[in-house]
Amino acid sequence: MATTREVGPPGWARLCRSDEIGEAQSRGFDPDHEGQDSLFIVRWQGDLHGWRNACPHIDGAPMAWRRDAYLNAEGTRIVCHAHGAEFMPDTGLCVQGPCRGERLSRIALAVVDGELFVKS
Ligand code: FES
Repeated sequence: MATTREVGPPGWARLCRSDEIGEAQSRGFDPDHEGQDSLFIVRWQGDLHGWRNACPHIDGAPMAWRRDAYLNAEGTRIVCHAHGAEFMPDTGLCVQGPCRGERLSRIALAVVDGELFVKS
């Protein structure tokens, strides 16, 4: 018999348990098995936000300097380590750096029974 964890909402792929990502933490995922993380999740002021791992400064540029490292040391901004652009964790707006005023691309998320899903 299939469980919620195995199935989830139709058209959504399971990433992890939602409580595995703590406050001011980030984590990358490769749900399509492309060989690198295509998206990342951050928890900011209690809420989870999903973003495409592609900097608007140079489209498609991956942002982390090492696995799961998408935030600054304080956990207050998403940082692209290529050229130092800083983004708000909740809106994806670039507030500092070469693409100031541009935004990250949001990924739709769903939490069902404590499991985190992404639109597939
Ligand atoms: S590629 Fe992200 S700041 Fe340049």
